[in-house]
Amino acid sequence: MTTTGPGPDAGAGRYVDHRAANRANWDDRVPVHLASRFYDVEGWLDGRPGPRAREVRALGGVAGLDLVHLQCHIGLDTLAWADAGARVTGLDFSAPAVAAARDLARRAGLEARATFVTADVHDAVAVLGAGRFDIVYVSLGALCWLPSVDRWADQVAGLLRPGGRLHLHDVHPLAWALADDSRTVEHTYFEEPDPFVADSPATYTDAVRPLIHTRSFEWNHGLGEVVGALLDRGLRIDSLVEHDWTVHQRFPWLVEAAPGEWTSPPGTPRLPLTFTVVATLVP
Ligand SMILES: C[S@@+](CC[C@H](N)C(=O)[O-])C[C@H]1O[C@@H](n2cnc3c(N)ncnc32)[C@H](O)[C@@H]1O
Repeated sequence: MTTTGPGPDAGAGRYVDHRAANRANWDDRVPVHLASRFYDVEGWLDGRPGPRAREVRALGGVAGLDLVHLQCHIGLDTLAWADAGARVTGLDFSAPAVAAARDLARRAGLEARATFVTADVHDAVAVLGAGRFDIVYVSLGALCWLPSVDRWADQVAGLLRPGGRLHLHDVHPLAWALADDSRTVEHTYFEEPDPFVADSPATYTDAVRPLIHTRSFEWNHGLGEVVGALLDRGLRIDSLVEHDWTVHQRFPWLVEAAPGEWTSPPGTPRLPLTFTVVATLVP
């Protein structure tokens, strides 16, 4: 399924351009990521590690549950939940990402439990249906691509069944506010209408070739704004944890404390780099 037509801000004529630029940037990243050591697709297919232990602790058993992964990219995180027994739907606006996810589902023998849909996250309820999911799952690097956390939260609340849960693990807004190469604050911590503009041929993984569509647009959302948007739509916050680690060398000054866990160097001030929210739609 593919959504077409103007974006949610078509009247303003701004987000449409941002979204087109971001989608072209993400389309370019797909073949780079598929070939990267960071995603290690062949290793994933061989090892099938399943969902992360801390996420399993947070969500418990998912066998037989309906889980939707918003902004699923190439689908590895989505398929990990299918391996744990969930019926999964991954949604992403990048058609090459969705094609890659479908291919990985086929190669993993998970097509019967995994559906992938090409659509903008703001169209998720319209495309997938209201109140259909036990779990909305959102993994690292999602909210920054969206201009309004309120509009995102509308989709989350609309997708969940009463009693259904959100699991959100994302980059901490303080980390988004920092300059790339120093610990100084360069960007707004709070949501603003105007995005940050990035212009880089690089992505966050190792890369065999540079990106062609280098410009992308990102928005920050303060932690209180994220939590407030969920509370306003009838979700109860079950837990909120700020983590002092992230999964790649987001800043040159980070050190790898454990495989795939990058933190502030010992003896320097610890900063929150990612956060997790688990929330329930109150029946
Ligand atoms: C950093 S990736 C998420 C990665 C995922 N956690 C993983 O590691 O595979 C962000 C994803 O958001 C998608 N995306 C960005 N804006 C979107 C939008 N408005 N609607 C749907 N997907 C979007 C991109 O195509 C990309 O696949």
